[in-house]
Amino acid sequence: MATPADTTAVRIVEVAPRDGLQNYARGFSTEAKIAFIDTLSASGLPVIEATSFVNPKAVPLMADAVEVMQGIERVDGVRYLVLVPNQQGLDRAIASGADSVAVFTSASEPFSQRNINCSIAESLERFTPIFTSARARGLWVRGYISMAFGCPFEGDIDPNSTATLAAKLLDMGSDEVCLADTIGKATTEQTAGVLEATLPQVPAERLALHMHDTFDRAVDNIDVAYDQGIRVFDVSAGGLGGCPFAPGAAGNLATERLIEHFDRRGIPHGVDGSVVRQAIANLLASAPV
Ligand code: HMG
Ligand code: MG
Repeated sequence: MATPADTTAVRIVEVAPRDGLQNYARGFSTEAKIAFIDTLSASGLPVIEATSFVNPKAVPLMADAVEVMQGIERVDGVRYLVLVPNQQGLDRAIASGADSVAVFTSASEPFSQRNINCSIAESLERFTPIFTSARARGLWVRGYISMAFGCPFEGDIDPNSTATLAAKLLDMGSDEVCLADTIGKATTEQTAGVLEATLPQVPAERLALHMHDTFDRAVDNIDVAYDQGIRVFDVSAGGLGGCPFAPGAAGNLATERLIEHFDRRGIPHGVDGSVVRQAIANLLASAPV
């Protein structure tokens, strides 16, 4: 098992209940989502992204965020992260008992407009009161950067743009900055390039990677990042995932696959893959809504 002193150990962040289900071809009942998260909580995962407090008209599959957060059994030692796009989302999250929130912006202007209906600069303005409230309440905050490597509208992203935005999010008060390959397009060279630009401004221990796996490159990219000292990696049980506003966004790297990969490399992660497999099997077997 991993220990905090073990600098080779990784922290696996499970995003299936949010990223996996926000865009899934069918809906799941609130009870099935709660059971999914409760089973994942028993697997040793240290962080589970449970839901998102966004406009339910924009993402109907996350409309039951309050009920999900209030229904799950919170296990000591597990962080239950939720997405909040604005003050309204933060207020709903706090009312549901959330203590860890994620704001999300993008390194691509066209994607920012499509996803959150504002420019990158406006998104940072929206985050300012969120960081102020979070600090006052002692909430833990992750700052996501979507399209940190490439974008379906803009093509390759300048690594310096991602690095500057990452530094800004850290400066504003993010406990962790997560670089996302939203459409799974990054090559190992691009991953290395973005990290080379970012690491002088954001230390490895404050960075996480969120790699969708469209072209089967996520594992190789994670290996590149691991060698650069990154230890926090997002995954999704069953490889579910995608963004409704990003054409071509396939699922995140499957949790089970990354666990097997780390096992092969002898890298401690502390997650029981059989429990994760049970969680996803139960979810997929649940009645459609
Ligand atoms: P907007 O339209 O600019 O906001 O949306 P607004 O303030 O003008 O409000 C419009 C309506 O939305 C109002 O309701 C508000 O009350 C409501 P109406 O008067 O029409 O009835 N509203 C809300 N309701 C509940 N909770 C809220 C909220 N905010 C406004 N928080 C907004 C801006 C960002 C809210 C909207 O565009 C939105 O919700 N977008 C959804 C974005 C999203 O969820 N994207 C997917 C997640 S991000 C992702 O997948 C990427 C990631 O995985 C990393 C990666 O892979 O890249 C994280
Ligand atoms: Mg994603």
